Parts: sequence; structure tokens; C-alpha cells
Amino acid sequence: MFSEIIGVKLLALAACMFHSSTVAAISNSSSLSYIPGRYLVEFADETTTSHTFFSTLSEHAISATPFLSLDYSLFKGASFNLHDSGNEKVNIQTIQSLPSVKNIHPVRSYSLPETAGYPVNQVSSFTSVENSAQSDITQDTLSTHVMTGVDKLRSEGYVGEGIKVAIVDTGIDYNHPALGGCFGKGCKVGFGKDLVGDDYTGANTPVPSDDPMDCAGHGTHVAGIIAANSTAPNFTGVAPNVTLGIYRVFGCAGSTADDVLIQAFMMAYDAGADVITASIGIESGWSEEPWAVAVSRIVEAGVPCTVAAGNDGTSGVFMISAAATGHGVTAVASVDNSVTPTLFQNASWSADNTTTSSFGWIPYTPADIDGTYPLFDVLQGSNDTTIACRDNFTIPSIPGKVALIPYIGYCTAGIGIVNKVVAAGSKYIMYYYDTPGTVTFGNGTGYGIDSFGMVSTDVAKKWTKLLAAGSTVSINVTNPAFDNWYAVSTVNNITGGYLSYFTSWGPTFEAEVKPQVAAPGGSILSTYPLKLGGYKIETGTSMATPFVAGSIALLLNTRDKLDPATINNLLSATAKPRSFNDGESTYPYLAPIAQQGGGLLNIYDAVHTVGVLNVSSIGFNDTEHFIKSASFEIKNTGKESVTYAVNYVSTGTVYTLPSNGDPVPSAFSPGAPPEIVTSSAKLTLSPDKVILKAGESASVEVIATPPTDLNASRIPVYGGYITLNGTNSESLSLPYLGVASNLKDANIFDTVDNGVYLSRYFNVSGIPDGFAFTLPPQNSTDEEKTKYDFPVPVAIQSFGSRVLRVDLVPTQSNSTIKTTKVLGVDIAGSIDPFPAYDTGRGAWHSFWYGQFSDGTFAQPGDYYLLLRALKIFGDENSPDDYESVETVSFSLKYGSSNATAAPARRSIGFNA
Ligand SMILES: *[C@@H]1O[C@H](CO)[C@@H](O)[C@H](O)[C@H]1NC(C)=O
Ligand SMILES: *[C@@H]1O[C@H](CO)[C@@H](O)[C@H](O)[C@H]1NC(C)=O
Ligand SMILES: *[C@@H]1O[C@H](CO)[C@@H](O)[C@H](O)[C@H]1NC(C)=O
Ligand SMILES: *[C@@H]1O[C@H](CO)[C@@H](O)[C@H](O)[C@H]1NC(C)=O
Ligand SMILES: *[C@@H]1O[C@H](CO)[C@@H](O)[C@H](O)[C@H]1NC(C)=O
Ligand SMILES: *[C@@H]1O[C@H](CO)[C@@H](O)[C@H](O)[C@H]1NC(C)=O
Ligand SMILES: *[C@@H]1O[C@H](CO)[C@@H](O)[C@H](O)[C@H]1NC(C)=O
Ligand SMILES: *[C@@H]1O[C@H](CO)[C@@H](O)[C@H](O)[C@H]1NC(C)=O
Repeated sequence: MFSEIIGVKLLALAACMFHSSTVAAISNSSSLSYIPGRYLVEFADETTTSHTFFSTLSEHAISATPFLSLDYSLFKGASFNLHDSGNEKVNIQTIQSLPSVKNIHPVRSYSLPETAGYPVNQVSSFTSVENSAQSDITQDTLSTHVMTGVDKLRSEGYVGEGIKVAIVDTGIDYNHPALGGCFGKGCKVGFGKDLVGDDYTGANTPVPSDDPMDCAGHGTHVAGIIAANSTAPNFTGVAPNVTLGIYRVFGCAGSTADDVLIQAFMMAYDAGADVITASIGIESGWSEEPWAVAVSRIVEAGVPCTVAAGNDGTSGVFMISAAATGHGVTAVASVDNSVTPTLFQNASWSADNTTTSSFGWIPYTPADIDGTYPLFDVLQGSNDTTIACRDNFTIPSIPGKVALIPYIGYCTAGIGIVNKVVAAGSKYIMYYYDTPGTVTFGNGTGYGIDSFGMVSTDVAKKWTKLLAAGSTVSINVTNPAFDNWYAVSTVNNITGGYLSYFTSWGPTFEAEVKPQVAAPGGSILSTYPLKLGGYKIETGTSMATPFVAGSIALLLNTRDKLDPATINNLLSATAKPRSFNDGESTYPYLAPIAQQGGGLLNIYDAVHTVGVLNVSSIGFNDTEHFIKSASFEIKNTGKESVTYAVNYVSTGTVYTLPSNGDPVPSAFSPGAPPEIVTSSAKLTLSPDKVILKAGESASVEVIATPPTDLNASRIPVYGGYITLNGTNSESLSLPYLGVASNLKDANIFDTVDNGVYLSRYFNVSGIPDGFAFTLPPQNSTDEEKTKYDFPVPVAIQSFGSRVLRVDLVPTQSNSTIKTTKVLGVDIAGSIDPFPAYDTGRGAWHSFWYGQFSDGTFAQPGDYYLLLRALKIFGDENSPDDYESVETVSFSLKYGSSNATAAPARRSIGFNA
């Protein structure tokens, strides 16, 4: 029973039922949710096996249940549950000291949020689709492929043939005809495994199987972006001939954990995958995160890995997810699709049994409707749509009819009218609206309606006119079938081709350049499990990431062998830097490197570039670790001599923190981005011109002078591109980034907003000084614990911390309470489950019943809690390198085991 919160998650944005569209901000919460008692060890040598390891534990009288056995070429280890919670800390120290153990980490588990279709800036008008062409998305003109040069590379015949792309996700519906219709050797989905089983929740024991079928949907969408070959709707993935591998790490609902994620990546590597991709992330910011370290190791061993940067753009700078944080891992940002596709289902209608005409509708969830149904205009001919909003508005009895309802925001889009339709005896709703994408029904199950759908206003107006004239209008709709779709696209001239405002910003807390490259992720059409409709438009860095993986497969088609570093170098130098767009308008300067990395992927140019750089970015670090002089090489891989002019263009500087002194990084909502100023670093580049004969290389030295007229306390992040314009008309750009402050000075705890305090279980607000707690008796059941008003420390972290301690300190140094000196302070103990490691930004809270992390219990007495967070770049063993906050003091005693009072539980939810 520890802090919530959303951590490892699929990176497609969730939609809300009955809400108009704004991207639901994903809470920026810390990821502290350790699975109680579960640990992952890596073995120190080849000879140790799970078997010998667990025998060694028995020899040391440590009782453990083996969980996963990881016996892979790049990772040998095991995860397990420790039983004796009373001696947990001692046992961990023993395990850590075993010669056979390289390291031990607690295992984290996080929830899986609902994923759903999500439109981006569907502002263009919804034109009539009645009798329209079947589709304007064809194989050769798919907007996302045109945006990125995939179309041109495909026209040269590259389709990913012979390349194995492994996906770590929720599984794949391999029965989908667009994904080959089968699983196993010779199929498009050719290899992989279900590591967890349908019922896996993240906390329970995985039940692996050989069948990686998808019951959640996300993995099937990801797979289609890479490799679909679809006819209705008409589109293909980036590399339709690749062989997909699938490693399923989520059950149908719930969480996954980092031991399972590491296992999945290691299995994919050992299966010979040429590329491994995961649209999953933990809010972290640390490349030291165990899963990120494991992915980095695979990259190091020669297999490129693409991982989603995250959808936390609204949280501002320094918000990159792990494992995208890993060294060498290709962290992928999202760009909005240049068009916004909408999926329609074919249906027909007729008036008074006359000739039928076809029309398109958008089924939502549920859409359980099949047959011919008469329509009923709920406005009954009135022009005044607002009457439907009145409390006294009623609908006459209409059993068996479809209620036709104008969708006008919260009024008729709300649950009120749904209840009136149900009261009128109907089970079917057809909305009409000019901007259909604005309606995003996550899942409307449970409201008494069998089918929700939408048609264009043009079609609806035709119907209401006929109905008003006394005609009977009927629609003939079939239960959504996977083969009956078509897509209609409207040009997105607001955000199309620009960075999606939800895409997470780097750099890492240690100023490593992230993300690497951006790809289309906003409003993406792809496959979905047949049971869930077959196709879906989804949005998120989840969609951008497989796009890059598929593009790397095309790139691998063109060369014999390419190592991951070279791949990143090629992708980055040939990506197209995009102007900054705040979700509403475009600015006259480039988007910061922290948001777009190299810019929008151009895989055609990555394949055909003549000039090849030996780095993918230059990081100047912060002022304390400033890199005074950097260099890179450019090689002419062509057959003719080329002269490159070397220059640079600044992207301006983004202030991490707002101007009002608040230590929490500025949020970013559409139209209100963090402050970006023009002042930036000056670069000296020498030489500023390189003449390269075929096959020749030259080195360019880069000396940066960081901007000095900035407010360092607001943590300015500057950046730009070194540009190389060749006489062969190619333009390469190398991103650079630096932080114009000392990151060690960054505030970890948000004390300015009173974000750190001690609350109690029965009340979220802070306690007064001297509050007397009566804790649950030691070893109470979870249910018994809820009868007691135990302490709940709360903190908002404005920055992440590698080591987060919460220690119990007696108020009187001469008391009889036994203490130990830790980092200069006499503490009674670290409260369970602290210390925590590699914490990200955001809010957390922790229920505390009196137990220390070593399993012992605090003695009754007077105390305060001391929260200490290691500063960025700080030395874990140096007390001065921690930021600390003391709570008010309180007294502790234990209650008797027959407490009766059971007050209402406090509400939970401190997400910043
Ligand atoms: C799909 O695309 C192919 C090739 O461009 C075309 O021949 C076919 O008519 C299209 N089908 C539909 C349903 O649009
Ligand atoms: C894609 O489908 C077309 C026709 O539907 C077929 O000719 C082609 O071989 C398929 N390609 C792949 C890679 O499955
Ligand atoms: C792609 O796959 C299809 C279907 O198997 C095959 O007909 C075609 O030759 C393949 N393309 C290449 C370039 O290998
Ligand atoms: C339409 O056809 C059905 C069945 O053929 C019939 O029952 C119904 O009366 C007809 N409706 C009208 C308005 O003609
Ligand atoms: C509805 O609007 C049309 C056009 O604006 C107008 O001509 C008509 O009189 C209106 N009808 C009613 C019932 O208000
Ligand atoms: C319904 O309420 C509106 C005001 O909200 C009022 O103008 C109208 O007369 C009412 N209609 C009936 C039938 O009571
Ligand atoms: C919708 O919700 C219901 C009930 O919560 C669930 O049974 C069903 O599987 C969900 N459907 C989809 C498509 O998510
Ligand atoms: C409804 O549409 C289906 C599929 O297009 C067709 O088979 C069926 O005959 C239609 N029903 C009527 C009553 O027109």
C-alpha cells in the first residue's frame, strides 16, 4: 500500500468520455511504486544461475520466492520476493555483498491507463462525405510517409524485407488481415512471446504463454504503424515487409514492472531482432533507471532501440521518460500529422423506402447496432439547438429509433441528454457535428446506450429536413466490422508538421541531449484488434516511436551493417528542424532542441546523405561541467568532392522555471508555452568551411560561449543547430544543447508552494505541530490499518533526485530512542519504503504505519521526519549535497488491536 501513481505507461493519450477535446494532461507524478518485497538482481558472473543463486540465499537463511529467471546473453539475473519483511534491509545488504551479485534493485510497478483515439487540432470543417471517394489515403501518398521521406524510399523498392523488428507492448492481434492473419514462422508477426498472460496486473505473478494476442489494443496499433498492409482503409505501415516480433508485457488491464520489461528486451535481443521498439515510459529523467541501463546495454551491443520520449509536454522542460533516457537509446518525440484522418464506417439510408444512399458514420464505443432503424430528430424540427439543454426538455417515447442529436459542447454532449434518450426507450444515439474529431468517447459502456455514433452535419440536415416534412428516414448500419472502413483526411494547417504540444521535453536531469528525433505521432491511423473495431486513430509518442523503428528497418535494407550510434547520427543530421508551434500558432524561430532533438525524421535523406557525421548531438552540459570545446567529424561518403559551409543557428533559450520564483518548471498549455528568449550561446566553429574529396573526413572544432544575460536561477536551456550546407545541395544539421546554470542549484523540493509537509490518513491537509498519532498495532492487516490515522508525508518534487530519503528523527537528542548517524544526523530509521532512487518530478505521498525499511518498528516517542533529496550531480555520501526539509514534530504510539472507529478514508490524489 504505497503511493499510487502512473508510472510505466503506454504512451498513447487517453480520451475522456463526454468531453470536448483538449489533451488530457497526464499527471506528472513521481514513480515510487515499488512492489513490496520484490527485487531484481543481476549476477556478477557467467557461472551463477538462478538455481545456484537461490541455493546461496538458502545457505544464508534468506527466504525468497523466485519470480523471473533472466538467463540472457546480455543480462543474467533473477527477480524474487523476499519473505521476511522484518529483516528485509539486512537481507538486501547480504545479497548485495554476495560475490555472485553485481547489483540489486527494488522492482517498480505502475498502472496502465486506458488508451483511446485522440484527434489533434481538428479545426478544419467537416465536409460532407456522402458518396465521397473511398479514400484519399493511398499507399503512395500517406501523409505521414510523405512528411518523412518514407514514400520516396519506398518508391526505390525498400520495404523492410528481411528485417526483424521487435515490439515490446500489449501484444498484437495477429489475426488482423492487415497484419498477416497468423502468428509464427512465415507470418508477418513471426516471433515473440507473451511474458505475462491476460490476468497479469503488474503485482501478481506473470503466467507466460506462447500466444502474444493483444486484448488491450495499443500493441496492435503500434504494429500497424510499422508493418500494416491494409485495404479498407487503404494504407500501409512504414515497412510492410518486415517480420515483426512481439513481447507482451501487459495483461488486459493493469500494470507492468521493470523486471518484465528488462526480460522482454533481453528476449528480443536474443531472438536476433534488428530493431527493438517500446512505446512505454516511466516518468524518470534518469539514464540510471535499471530498465534504461538494460536498453542501453543492448544498444551498445549493436541493436538500435527506439523508446517514446513521453507525453508530458504540458509539464515543461526536464520531463523525459525512461527508458528513452538511456545512453544511446533513440528517444522519439512526436510531430502532428499534416492531415487529420477520420475513420468512417460505410452505411446506407433511405426515406420512405425509396432509393438508398450511402453515408459514412463514426462508431464510438459501444456501437452495438446492426440492421435498419428509423431516425428521430430530438429537436423535432426546431432550429434552436439550445432547447435540448433545458431542464424541462423531454423526448417522447421512441423505442427502436435512433435519436439524432446535435453535438454542441457540454450541453447536448453531456450525460443529461443520454439519460433522456434512455428514458424515452431508445438505445441508439447518432450525434452530428461540424468537427467530428472533437468527440472522443473513451468508452460509453454502462450508460444504457447500445450504440453511439456521429455523422456529418450535412447528412443530418438532409435527414431532419425530410423528417420535418413527415417522411420516415431509416438508416441501415452494420455492427462495425474491420473491413468496412474508409478514412477521410482534412488538412491540419494549425499544427500539422510541427512538434505536438504534448511531446515530452528533455534534456535528462544530467543535461544529456534528449530527444533524438521526432516523427508523426499526432492523429495516426493504424490497425486495432478486430474485436475492438479493427482500426483506430490514436495520438501520442507511442505512435511516433514505431514510425522511427520502421524507418530504421528501411535504412537497414540499404546498408550491410549499421551500428546504432551511426544510425542516430544519420537520423539526427538529416532530420528537418521545425519551427516552434505552441499548439495554436507557429513562431518565427525553431523549436528548442529540448523539445525536438534533431527535428522531423527524414529517412530518405538519412539513406542518401553523402556527408556523414560521427556524433548525433553536442551537449555542453551545465555551467559547472561546461564543455569548453567539442568537436565532430564529417566524412564525404560520396564519389565527388563536396564543400560544406559550416555555420550555426540558435533555437533561442527556454527558461525551465517561471519568472515568479516558483521552483516548479513552467507548464505548457496550448497557446501558453514556457518562456523562450532569443539570447543564446555564441559558437565559434573552425574551420567554417570544409572541402572534402570523395572518402575524405575533416574535424570541426566547436567552442561555445554560453549566454550571460540570462537569469541563471530560472535554469535557462539554450541550444541550436550547427549547419553544414554542401555544394551538392545537401543541408545537414547537428543539434547542440546546454544549460546556463549550475544544475546542482536546482530546487528539488517545492517548499515555495508548501508542497512538502506531513499529513495524516484521515485528512489531506497538514497536521499541527505536536500532533499525536496512534498507529495501527504492529503487523496489522491492511484492513485494520485503515482504522488508524497514521502519518502520510507528502512532497512535490520540482526536480528529480537520484536518492530520496525520509528519515525519522527523535526531537530530543538525549532521549532513550536508539539512533544511528546517517549523513550527519542521528536518525531512528528510514521509514518504509525509503530511500527511493531515481525519482522523477511531480507529487508523491506515502502511507506510513511505523515500520522502518529494515523491517523493525519505530519506538513510541516524539519525532519529526527529515526529507532529504540528493541534488543533481550530488555525491550520495556527502550530507551537504542533499536538500532537506523537516516536518512538524509529532508523537507516536501504537493502538490496541481492537480499534472500532472506521472513519471515511481520506481522499487521495496529490498529483501536481
Ligand atoms: C487502395 O489503393 C489502391 C492502390 O492505390 C487502389 O487501387 C484501390 O482502389 C484503393 N482502394 C480503396 C478502397 O480506396
Ligand atoms: C500487401 O497486400 C497486397 C494486396 O492486398 C499484396 O499484393 C502484397 O503482397 C501485400 N504485401 C505484403 C508485404 O504483405
Ligand atoms: C514484400 O512482400 C511481398 C509479399 O510477400 C512480396 O511479394 C514482395 O516481393 C516483397 N518485396 C520485396 C522487396 O521483397
Ligand atoms: C417500408 O417498407 C416496409 C417493409 O417493406 C413496410 O413495412 C413499411 O410500411 C414501408 N414504409 C413506408 C413509409 O412506405
Ligand atoms: C430556421 O432557420 C432558417 C434559416 O436561418 C429560417 O429561414 C427558418 O425560419 C428557421 N425556422 C425556425 C422554425 O426558426
Ligand atoms: C422550459 O423552460 C424554459 C426556460 O428554461 C421556458 O422558457 C419554457 O417555457 C419552458 N417550457 C415548458 C414547456 O415549460
Ligand atoms: C468498455 O467498458 C466495459 C465495462 O467497463 C468493458 O467491459 C469493455 O471491455 C470496454 N470496451 C472497450 C472497447 O474498451
Ligand atoms: C442493410 O445493409 C446490409 C449490408 O450492406 C445489406 O446486406 C442489407 O440487405 C441491408 N438491409 C436493408 C433492409 O436494406
